[in-house]
Amino acid sequence: MEQDLERILITRDAIARRIEELGREVSTDLSALDDGAEVVLVAVLTGSIIFLADLIRQLPHKLRIDLVTVSSYPGRSVVSGGPVISGPLPDDLSGRHVLIVDDILDSGRTVRLLRSEIERRSPKSVRICVLLRKQTAAALRTPCDYVGFDIPDRFVVGYGLDYDDYYRNLPDIGILHPDAM
Ligand code: IMP
Ligand code: MG
Repeated sequence: MEQDLERILITRDAIARRIEELGREVSTDLSALDDGAEVVLVAVLTGSIIFLADLIRQLPHKLRIDLVTVSSYPGRSVVSGGPVISGPLPDDLSGRHVLIVDDILDSGRTVRLLRSEIERRSPKSVRICVLLRKQTAAALRTPCDYVGFDIPDRFVVGYGLDYDDYYRNLPDIGILHPDAM
């Protein structure tokens, strides 16, 4: 797998250190809520699974996890075709604090779609946490509460992120070599 990378962008150690910091940030904010309302993490499949697994272990709070499937890069495409939510969204979000967890903010369409669908369910609050944010005008324009790393506008894989469903199991995050696409 590693020979398909142009280079490693973020090492597993740097990811782990940053997620500890991010966890402290999120945790401080969750503690500050202190209103008895339930906390629900809504994580976007499939790219966020590894991030989610690491992040939630930094959050010593009573919370629930819901998974939603949103696809935007069908198959071998590296250009988002527009996000589609497949399957049901949790319908019991009313009065709850929701934290959307996704792997990467690119055009921002995925989190904007999810936020608007979730807001229709009358939650108490909605926040967004992404591991990566590409330096694109659209991503930077998209409101987002927690960002792990700002990265160049290149196609990256590893640590949950895929190309054609491969490379999710790479422990580091790397730029995919154009020859591998
Ligand atoms: P957006 O809706 O354009 O913000 O795209 C977000 C989704 O596209 C993410 O959840 C990823 O699944 C996918 N995506 C965007 N950029 C990349 C990338 O560089 N590598 C892998 N997947 C990506
Ligand atoms: Mg995704």
